[in-house]
Amino acid sequence: MAQITVTGANLIYDCDEADTVLRAALRAGLGFPYECNVGSCGNCRFGLLEGEVEHARTDAPAWTDRDRQRKRYLGCQARALIDCRIKVNLRDHYRSVHRPRRTTARLFEIEDITHDMREFRFRLGEPAPFLPGQYALLAIPGVVGNRAYSMCNVTEAGEEWHFQIKRVPNGAATERLFDMIGIADTIAVDGPYGMAYLREDVPRDILCLAGGSGLSPMIAITRAAAVSPKLAGRTLHFIYGGRFARDICGEPMLKCLPGYGERIFYHPAVSMPESDPDIAGWQGHLGFVPDVAKKMFGDDLTRFEIYFAGPPAMAEAVMRTLVEMKVPPDQVHYDQFY
Ligand SMILES: Cc1cc2nc3c(=O)[nH]c(=O)nc-3n(C[C@H](O)[C@H](O)[C@H](O)COP(=O)(O)OP(=O)(O)OC[C@H]3O[C@@H](n4cnc5c(N)ncnc54)[C@H](O)[C@@H]3O)c2cc1C
Ligand code: FES
Repeated sequence: MAQITVTGANLIYDCDEADTVLRAALRAGLGFPYECNVGSCGNCRFGLLEGEVEHARTDAPAWTDRDRQRKRYLGCQARALIDCRIKVNLRDHYRSVHRPRRTTARLFEIEDITHDMREFRFRLGEPAPFLPGQYALLAIPGVVGNRAYSMCNVTEAGEEWHFQIKRVPNGAATERLFDMIGIADTIAVDGPYGMAYLREDVPRDILCLAGGSGLSPMIAITRAAAVSPKLAGRTLHFIYGGRFARDICGEPMLKCLPGYGERIFYHPAVSMPESDPDIAGWQGHLGFVPDVAKKMFGDDLTRFEIYFAGPPAMAEAVMRTLVEMKVPPDQVHYDQFY
């Protein structure tokens, strides 16, 4: 067990050999900045002043040559080999409401959503509560490194975590999940993580934007908002985009919620109609999710609390649109799915 001292803040926390500098800090209740947890965003960068760490993922996209020269590391990838003194600006914003826990999860149900999306339902060895919109790290046997997946269910105690996962062609984790992991298999999980969770205390209408694999956290947020007494009477619009009509999903999950069609509305959008063999009879929107949102709401976008999830290209396009439409940044919550 190593001890990490955060210089300036004068805080010390324990970090065991299997943990990372970031996750041990979050488990200790500290507000260590982060986002993706898989080495891609760079938000968890810290300076090593004393001690020795080892990077789990040496090819992490956010770890640059300059970082190496300046003894800067990624908190989500760095394991402490001995006691360390580090420099990082802790922020309350990143403190966990539910501190992340490492436990096991047993797969008990699988359901197809589309031709390449499935819901995987796990029961946890030890319950771990989470907020709607958060994600967990899954250790898939035979895959190097963890993968992040967002929960789609709503739960008080956290006995079950359900994930809606899109198959990535030749993807190391998804190919294994879809083809080799079966009912009753048990994996190691760690969570919850993520800051893009439902803000029930904010009395605004809600806009959820999701593309492809971004369905799961937006479903969790909508399910929770539908029954939240604090959000009673608030309207929620859910825009879901895919390339083709056969990629579109999610509506049946919302249709069974109280208020569907009265204050909860689903808007599907297809972005490649010209090469879609199933487009005849399509009644939804045409175009990319941010363009559809802009067309539907225009200047009115500023009145929403906005949540979105999806691949980085979609997240960048959504951010550009929201900046252009002058939506205040503190009304926007998102995770990029690297
Ligand atoms: C916060 C967050 C939430 C997400 N939620 C969802 C979700 O709800 N549903 C969904 O379908 N997808 C989600 N993803 C994407 C998911 O984590 C995977 O990137 C995706 O399933 C592809 O994984 P793969 O192994 O099949 O593909 P691959 O192409 O084999 O792997 C791609 C990804 O794995 C990561 N990776 C590669 N090597 C390592 C390593 N050594 N250590 C750690 N990471 C590594 C990289 O981030 C890379 O982008 C989320 C991603 C993030 C960051
Ligand atoms: S790189 Fe560590 S949280 Fe994204």
